[in-house]
Amino acid sequence: MIGDKKVLFSGMQATGNLTLGNYLGALMNWVKLSDEYECFYSVVDMHSITVRQDPAELRARARKLLMLYIAAGLDPEKNCIYFQSHVSGHAELAWILNCFTYMGELSRMTQFKDKSAKHADNINAGLFTYPVLMAADILLYQADVVPVGIDQMQHLELTRDIAQRFNGIYGDVFTVPEPYIGKVGAKIMSLQDPSKKMSKSDENPNASIYLMDDPDTIMRKFKRAVTDSLGAVRYNEEEQPGICNLIDIYVACTGKTREETVAEFDGKGYGDFKTAVGESVVERLRPLQERVADLAKNKDYVDRIIKENAEKAQYASSKTLRKVQKKVGFPEKIR
Ligand code: TYM
Repeated sequence: MIGDKKVLFSGMQATGNLTLGNYLGALMNWVKLSDEYECFYSVVDMHSITVRQDPAELRARARKLLMLYIAAGLDPEKNCIYFQSHVSGHAELAWILNCFTYMGELSRMTQFKDKSAKHADNINAGLFTYPVLMAADILLYQADVVPVGIDQMQHLELTRDIAQRFNGIYGDVFTVPEPYIGKVGAKIMSLQDPSKKMSKSDENPNASIYLMDDPDTIMRKFKRAVTDSLGAVRYNEEEQPGICNLIDIYVACTGKTREETVAEFDGKGYGDFKTAVGESVVERLRPLQERVADLAKNKDYVDRIIKENAEKAQYASSKTLRKVQKKVGFPEKIR
C-alpha cells in the first residue's frame, strides 16, 4: 500500500514497434486501472538488451514508448512513468533474487525457449535470467497487481514463487502480486496466422497492426486478414479462430459484447465485418497517434517527466531494497 491505495506495476519492452496486442492486452487496461491504484509503469529498457540492439535505436524507441504511455491516457503527474535503467534498485534486487531462483525453473520458461531458438547465436545469461529481473521489477514496489497479457502469466507465476520462497525464509518481506488479465484482448492473434500471437517481432508486417500505422495501412491489413471459408461471423474458436480474433479486437475497441457483435453482423459478409473492425481500430488509435505527435514536439515537458518520475521511482523502491539487503545479511551503510 502507498497511502490508502494498493500498488500496481507493469512494463513493456522498448523492442520493435508496439502492436495492437500490446495495446489491447496491456496498455488499455493500465489506463482503466490507473485511478484505482498507485501505479508504476516502466519502460523496461534493461530487458531489451537480452537481444542485441542498435544503441541509438533503442534510446529513441524507449523515449517513444514512454511518450506512448502518456498518449494512451496515463497521466504522468499521477502515475510513475519511468525508464527501468534510471532506477538502480532493479538490477540490485535482481541479483539477490537470482540467488533464490533455480536453474530448473528458468529453463522451463517458454519465452526463454522461444527466444533462444530465434537467437541461437546469442543465448546469453541475461536471456536466461530475464524472468528474475522481471520479478525484481514487480517486487521492488511491493506491487499488489500486475496487468499483463496471457503470454506473461508464466513469468508472473514464477515471480509469486520467488516472493513466497523469500518470505518463507525471511518473514513477510514481499507482497505476493496478483495478475490482472483483461476479459477480452488478453491474447490478440496474428492477422496472418491466428494460431500465433500478434508479436512485435513477426517478420510479416501484415501479421501485426502497429500502433503508429496510418489508417490506410490498418484498413489494408484487416482486409488481408486470414479468415475461413464458412462465411458467417460467429464465435467458434475451433473452426473460426481468425474470425474470433477479429471479434475480440472489435469488442475491445468498441466496448460491445461478443454476442452484440455476432448479432450486428448476422447475415453480413466478411468484407463488411473486416471493414468495421478496421474502422474501430483506426478510431481507437487516432487520438493516441495525435498525442504522440504533440508530445514529440514538447521536449522540455517530456524531459521533466522523465527526471521527476525517475526520482519518485528511485525513492519508492529504496525502502524495499534496504529491507531485503538487511534480511540477507549485507552490512548496513554508515551514513
Ligand atoms: P512485452 O513487452 O512483450 O509486452 C508488453 C505487454 O503486452 C502484452 N502482449 C499482448 N497482449 C495481448 N495480445 C498480444 N498479442 C500481446 N503481445 C504482448 C504482454 O503480455 C505484456 O503485458 N516481460 C514483459 C515486460 C516486463 C514486465 C515486467 C511486465 C518486464 N518486467 C514487469 C509486467 C511486469 C514483456 O516482454 O512484455
